[in-house]
Amino acid sequence: MKTETLLIHGGIDGDERTGAVNVPIYQTSTYKQPAFGVNSGYEYSRTGNPTREGIEKLIAELEGGIGGLAFASGMAATTAVLTLFKSGDKIIISDNLYGGTFRVLDKVFKGFGISYQIVDTSNIAEVRGALETGDAVKAIFIETPTNPLMDITDIKEISKLAKKYGILTIVDNTFMTPYLQKPLELGADIVVHSATKYLGGHSDLIAGLVVVKEQELWDKLHFIQNATGGVLAPFDSFLLIRGIKTLGIRMDRHNENAMKIANYLKSNENVRRLYYPGLEEHPGHEIQKAQAKGFGGMISFVLDEGIDYKRFLTSLKLVTFGESLGGVESLICHPASMTHGSIPYEIRQSVGIVDNLVRLSVGIENAEDIIEDLNHAFREGKIND
Ligand SMILES: Cc1ncc(COP(=O)(O)O)c(C=O)c1O
Repeated sequence: MKTETLLIHGGIDGDERTGAVNVPIYQTSTYKQPAFGVNSGYEYSRTGNPTREGIEKLIAELEGGIGGLAFASGMAATTAVLTLFKSGDKIIISDNLYGGTFRVLDKVFKGFGISYQIVDTSNIAEVRGALETGDAVKAIFIETPTNPLMDITDIKEISKLAKKYGILTIVDNTFMTPYLQKPLELGADIVVHSATKYLGGHSDLIAGLVVVKEQELWDKLHFIQNATGGVLAPFDSFLLIRGIKTLGIRMDRHNENAMKIANYLKSNENVRRLYYPGLEEHPGHEIQKAQAKGFGGMISFVLDEGIDYKRFLTSLKLVTFGESLGGVESLICHPASMTHGSIPYEIRQSVGIVDNLVRLSVGIENAEDIIEDLNHAFREGKIND
């Protein structure tokens, strides 16, 4: 089946017993054991729940993996994956990625002896250099496009390099979703998602997903999921399955709207720098075209000094100023103080997460209304006006 069809019929399609077209919500913590030492395949919902299995099977099929695992948040998913490593191991990470991923490595896993090395993963030579000198490196963790600067990393090249060194490639596929990009098919070993974003799509749940290509990894991660317990609840699993049914048409509209808005911002005097992978001049544009089916709905831009960024952000009426992304509604945030606030100032400055950088998650409203709102906020944000 093609991805568009899998979104609706993949995983567990409906309910065999009743013919219901949706996976039922099994709102239960436990299951009756019919005889001593006998169970129905389910014992306790931390270990397994049929609704959670619905989303786990669905995401595995969508990503082209052998199995999926659903967690209570994107960070719980990432944390479970990082738990695969042990003291003395090192992980290479992209030089701008979600602040929470950096924070958990810096403030939690470092304390357990797992270190990280920040590398510009869009530069293969730099990654190769880091691998040549770092024999403790056990994985490369990338986002592509990165959050928030939309750096593009060549997944095929990184995976090839990682294989050569016998280490894992982990891709956070939140910005693209499997509708646009399938990292496992490009050679990666593990995909993680903040399903809170495009997969859920309606800003009404917090969820995380992991998909792997090999049974051994799934067994290890399932053990970790059960042992550490950050599982996704049945109702949220249901919401996520429901959200994914419309992922294709939503992503098509996100792509289309973002392209229109990027073109509008490109010639706007109030924008000093624009980051959108769909623009031909964006570094990595050709790689993005080759490894993904679209450019996504995320745009970041640096406001001109003539604009008060706080006033600009708070003057928007249609676009919601707040954390998160990937919902049907347009959302805008200030990475330096919000999503990436936990990254030290010097690192933020050196990679380009400057104070007048804003990150726009383009929703599926009419693009003209979004543009009108941006126009209004640019006017309101003008200094000395
Ligand atoms: C790219 C990316 N990965 C992971 C996360 C963490 O996901 P969650 O907020 O669902 O824990 C986020 C959240 O913003 C994100 O943007």
